[in-house]
Amino acid sequence: MPALTRRRVLTAGVLGTVAAAAAACSRPFGRTPAGPNLPPGEDLVFGASLELTGSGAVAGMAFGSVVMGRMATQGRNKVTLIASPKVATLGYWVEQLIAESTGKEGKGIVPVEGEPVGKPAVYGDDRLFVYIRMDADPPNRAVQALEKAGHPVVTLTMRDKLDLGGEFFRWEVATAIAGAVLGIDAFDQPNVQESKDNTKKVLAIFKGKGKLPAAESVAASKARAGIKSLLGKAKRGSYFAIMAYTARTPGSEAAIAAIRTAVRDKTKIATTAGYGPRFLHSTGQLHKGGPKTGLFLQVVQNDAKDVSIPGQPYSFSVLKQAQAIGDLQSLTSRRLPVLRVTLGREPAAGWRALAAAVKRGHDVFQEKCSICHFDTSEAKKIGPGLKGLNKRGTFSVNGNKVTDENLKTWIENGDSLMPPFKEALEEAQIKDVIAYVKTL
Ligand code: HEC
Repeated sequence: MPALTRRRVLTAGVLGTVAAAAAACSRPFGRTPAGPNLPPGEDLVFGASLELTGSGAVAGMAFGSVVMGRMATQGRNKVTLIASPKVATLGYWVEQLIAESTGKEGKGIVPVEGEPVGKPAVYGDDRLFVYIRMDADPPNRAVQALEKAGHPVVTLTMRDKLDLGGEFFRWEVATAIAGAVLGIDAFDQPNVQESKDNTKKVLAIFKGKGKLPAAESVAASKARAGIKSLLGKAKRGSYFAIMAYTARTPGSEAAIAAIRTAVRDKTKIATTAGYGPRFLHSTGQLHKGGPKTGLFLQVVQNDAKDVSIPGQPYSFSVLKQAQAIGDLQSLTSRRLPVLRVTLGREPAAGWRALAAAVKRGHDVFQEKCSICHFDTSEAKKIGPGLKGLNKRGTFSVNGNKVTDENLKTWIENGDSLMPPFKEALEEAQIKDVIAYVKTL
């Protein structure tokens, strides 16, 4: 990987013209003006970071073809937005634009909005970061770390909120051009209608029978096994999508953030989240029409309040449930992996249980073991460093072989210096932490 160079590559004119030409003849194009001697385009993919200035049509074209389109065709199709808190909600708009415009015919760019930012090592090689900052913002350390580690980061700087108009224009042009590079029609949304049609069918059943068709689901408190099997399907390039047909509350927001972080840190796959039915018009198109790489978690709750719909035999709550079931059917008919979880009577408790079900060995380790053990070093803290324990093959404390069985006995019972965890942890958590320790 070439050394990182931070370049002010794009003065709209030069690269924009190259990019427009490239998009027009869809052939690989030449190097960026200041690029090292690499194969065409590669300098942007590996270890480069860019700062884009200007937001006219040409800048949008360059961003769309050179950056989003070309990177997507090379596997970096998770456009991960990191926005200044001052314009944080711009992300929702960009998410919808990209997902609904590009996610079709088995192709598409996956916008990743609102995912908590992590250390460079928790990301796979399928990301393109776009950092949207305001001129007055202080430097963002997390973004700097990503750049330093060689992740591709595009920085878009706005002078003030009036620049939003320019950003809208940039993203619209960029998305249309990226669509051309991917070879799809950005002005079409074929699979949104499909879920609507499914919803109609589900509502017809409700009208006829007076109840909605059953959908297989699991309670949040019992979701551990289902989540494990869903995540077991994660491959390089997969993404994990949370589809919450629930109220947006501080509890749901906290749980979604915790689940996304745990899944991402554990599997290195990108995570997305949306509230239903709203997301059906944004990422919903991509889920069904885009690359078949999604792992889906549908979360539903019983509505505490309901409102009837004049002239219809069903209420808003029933309509929402029908939309969830209709979308579930769209996903399963494509053989996409989906787990449907019900939050139960107490949504807040349900969200907490769901977050706990996703937290795996790493989290258990952080919470219960890291005060006394390093997981990234062999050095002694209060207890011995656990890095490399499995490779060494024997416990340093007693010479026993490192097996699941011996680890279980040790962790459950402790010894004079290490506390026993038989009571403090569930059996599944002990299993998870053993699995984690063995990866060190
Ligand atoms: C309060 C401190 C403390 C906590 C918390 C703790 N340990 Fe320990 N652990 C120790 C000490 C001290 C030893 C060394 C024991 C000895 O020398 O007899 C040890 C030893 C070990 C060993 C043997 C390592 C070797 O190389 O032989 C393993 C494995 C282990 N701990 C795992 C865990 C796990 C997993 C957790 C969390 C569930 C945990 N420990 C939590 C203090 C702790």
